[in-house]
Formats: sequence, C-alpha cells, structure tokens
Amino acid sequence: MATASEFKPTIVGFLCNWCCYGGADLAGVSRFQYPPYLRVIRLMCSGRVDLQFIFRTFAKKADGVFIGGCHLNDCHYNPEGNYDAMGNTLMARRILEKLGVNPERLRLEWVSAGEGTRFAEIMNEFSAKVKSLGPLGSSEKVPVAELASRLQVAEELVPYIKLVERERLRVPVRTEEGYKQFFGSERFEQLFDELILDKLVMSRIMGLVRRHPLQAHEIPGNLDLDPAEVARHLRQLTERGLLKFDRGQTLVAAV
Ligand code: FES
Repeated sequence: MATASEFKPTIVGFLCNWCCYGGADLAGVSRFQYPPYLRVIRLMCSGRVDLQFIFRTFAKKADGVFIGGCHLNDCHYNPEGNYDAMGNTLMARRILEKLGVNPERLRLEWVSAGEGTRFAEIMNEFSAKVKSLGPLGSSEKVPVAELASRLQVAEELVPYIKLVERERLRVPVRTEEGYKQFFGSERFEQLFDELILDKLVMSRIMGLVRRHPLQAHEIPGNLDLDPAEVARHLRQLTERGLLKFDRGQTLVAAV
C-alpha cells in the first residue's frame, strides 16, 4: 500500500522565458538539487498565465501550480506583465479558496536568470509544501472529481471575471504593496462577493441542475453550500427564468 511519504506530486510550472526559465536552467546546469516533480511550460512572460490556465491545470488534477516571472520592474514587456501575473494569482487564490481548493497549492515567485540557487530553494520549499498537502482533494477532503467539476465552472466564467476586473476591480497602484492592499481590502471583498462569488455559485447550481434535475433541498448538500445562500440564488435564478420547477417540484434548467 502506498504511504504518504511515497506521494510524488505533479507540479506544473509556468516559467517566463527571460528570467525564471533561465534560473531553472542555471539550477540544472549547476546541478543544484530539487525534487523532480516540476513539469515546465515555458512562456514569454508570466503575464501570459491566464486564470483559465490555472483552473484548467488544477482541473486536470495537478497537485500544485507554480508561476515564475522576472522580478518586478524587470519584465521585458510593457505594461509590465508580471504585475498582471500578480493580479491573476491573487484573484485565482481567492477563487480557489471559494471552490474548496487549498490556495497554498498555487505559488508565484520572481526569479532572475542568474538566481539558480534561489530557484532550487523555492522548488525544494514548494515541493515539500505540496507534498505535505497530499494529492489534490486530500487535504481539502473533497473528491478530486468534484473539485474538477467546480474548477471547470470557474474556467467557463473567466471571460466574465476579466470583464469585472477591467471595469470594477482595477488595482489603482502598480506596486507589490498596492496589489496586496487592494486584494486585502474591504472594498475588494465586497465587490468580489457581489460580482464574482455570486455568479460562481449560480453557475455551480446551474451546472448541477443541468447534469441532474433535483429538488431544491438536495442542492446545498450536493454543492457543499449554505442552505440560506442556495435559497437566495435559487430565488434569483427562478425569477430570471433560468431555472424552473416542474410539476413534481424538481428543479430543471429552463435554458
Ligand atoms: Fe518575464 Fe514578463 S518577461 S515576467
């Protein structure tokens, strides 16, 4: 029987070509040791790592996702792609948490092409972290297939999330501190709940009802959601004509 110590996590790393990939390469040629769990995807800039990439990678059952970019203000593209990567990571971590995925499974770091040692240290640390969390779904205590279906809902919502970010959730100051303050602010929490979380929950309810028509009282248990929250969303979905009750009081999708 496999023991926890034998667990070999799958970690997908999206590395910027100009800096972090160089750091990984240097770590390799210098023979700095780190666990062999990383599957590297080389991109031209960390800003290219779309929210969809993150949700899809976890939906494909990766145990951890690593994003590595150039240090802030060293990005080769203008406006700086690594600030976009920071915004995407902070947003993704918030959404992952709401979906029941431990956000510690997603990590963003800045590594220059000359920082092979730093790259190896980060990989050692992150691999140990992901290993301690176990396979996706285990520390979350949610079956991985259920997490995958939640992540697919989030992935489908990404175009909407980007629109909300552009119109209502623009970070006012392009500094690391500015991003952390904005994503930790009450204003962000309020707008996130109103504009993104509600939509996410409604999409999850719609997805469930499309898969299996069922009665209203069965929904909270199926989606691991609060019954009062589900009742509020069901009211909105039925008022908007997206869900309806058939004669047996079973909910069915109207569209
Ligand atoms: Fe490396 Fe943009 S070019 S993060």
